Amino acid sequence: MSDHLHFNLFTMNSVEHVSPGSWTIPGDQSHRYTDREYWTDVARTAERGGFDAIFFADVRGIYDVYDDDRDPAIQRAIQTPSNMPQALVPAMAEVTDDIGFAVTRSTSYVHPYQLARELSTLDHVTDGRIAFNVVTSYLESAAENLGMGDRMEHDERYDRADEFMDVCYRLWEDSWEDDAIVRDAESETYTDPENVHAIDYEGEYFTVPGPHGCEPSPQRSPVIYQAGSSDRGRRFAATNAEGVFVSQPTKEATRDYIEDMRERVGDRGRDPDSLKFFPGIVVITGETDEVAREKHETYKEHISVEGTLSLLSGFIDMDFSELEPDQKVEHIETDAIRGTINAFTKNDPDREWTVEEVAQFAGLGTTSPVIVGGPETVADELEAWQEEVGVDGFNLKEVTRPGSLRDFVDYVVPVLRERGLIREEYEGETLRENMFERRGLPDGHPGADS
Ligand SMILES: Cc1cc2nc3c(=O)[nH]c(=O)nc-3n(C[C@H](O)[C@H](O)[C@H](O)COP(=O)(O)O)c2cc1C
Repeated sequence: MSDHLHFNLFTMNSVEHVSPGSWTIPGDQSHRYTDREYWTDVARTAERGGFDAIFFADVRGIYDVYDDDRDPAIQRAIQTPSNMPQALVPAMAEVTDDIGFAVTRSTSYVHPYQLARELSTLDHVTDGRIAFNVVTSYLESAAENLGMGDRMEHDERYDRADEFMDVCYRLWEDSWEDDAIVRDAESETYTDPENVHAIDYEGEYFTVPGPHGCEPSPQRSPVIYQAGSSDRGRRFAATNAEGVFVSQPTKEATRDYIEDMRERVGDRGRDPDSLKFFPGIVVITGETDEVAREKHETYKEHISVEGTLSLLSGFIDMDFSELEPDQKVEHIETDAIRGTINAFTKNDPDREWTVEEVAQFAGLGTTSPVIVGGPETVADELEAWQEEVGVDGFNLKEVTRPGSLRDFVDYVVPVLRERGLIREEYEGETLRENMFERRGLPDGHPGADS
């Protein structure tokens, strides 16, 4: 197994993603998210840097929890406007050969039969370079817009997600046999019906007779990512995920998370090492430490406090406008992203956070660590994460676009390559081969065993 680090670019088909206010930084090109060439350039740059994938976040709904109003978020382009990530994939695949595409799709608002078809199609069109970041969604406004009334309760969203994944695995893995397509003109047989099977799925949320409408794509099941951090979210990830996107602000918290997850994965009869861990990370870099520090200062000046609080209010489902800036943030039970609030209230019991401090910290990448320095400094720190924490790679969060990616690839990647910490060449043909050196889902995974 390769021991180099794996990198994804964590981005979104929108103006702002996780660094509110960054569109005001001189030279930032986030407004070009509607421009196909912006994305094809991003894909080429990330592939030049040996990245595993472009990892697209996606949400439905508007961030309207802050001040009980959507205007503060709309004004500052907080994840709205945004377009669908999956529509960008064919254009980006066309100009690249190896880099993968992780698309976030919600199990709460689509039907698994439809989504299985969408992802099989994307896997075909990219020659096996697709990952599915499974989310359960957290914005109430999304449920309302889709005519689904109240958003489902937190744990129930995961119950539905469990079933959703079972349906998908059955469609991707069991419905069509490898030799179903025969293309024999003489017998007028394109497909041997004997080798195409119904799945006859009957569950609490879904009834799907099947068969799958698509022939098997190169990976069959896309690589499965997940990012939930609550107890229920971890249970889901331990069952389904091949990669988890960790959102903890410190090494200690990330180490604890990895230890807990490896134990859970082992309890499910899977190899604990078959799960890869990707903390989110912000890297601010340049030719030297000094240049990087200057950039950091500039970026901090552009943080939008209101924008950040609007974003966090949506993540946490708690209205930050009701708190004073110097008020301490306390742990609350929430129905949205539980991990976000825990990042501030639970991980370091000795540290108390005020609302203003949370906004300043979260303004650059939300709950992820920020590394500031020249190429050697950044490489040292990333290597320390690998050695001390046991991470497999990182989801690189952007501040400026496409500056954060370009700086990383131009300054840090050459040093990581000298140290053997990023690939020189892609190892396999599919995303899963490049990440795990195997074609299909791992043993013990419910998809492999279905
Ligand atoms: C780092 C991270 C990234 C996430 N990205 C998205 C996203 O792009 N879209 C989305 O709808 N949910 C996203 N989520 C939400 C989760 O998938 C999940 O639905 C939510 O965190 C609730 O589960 P939890 O309480 O177990 O964390 C993300 C969560 C985390 C922690």
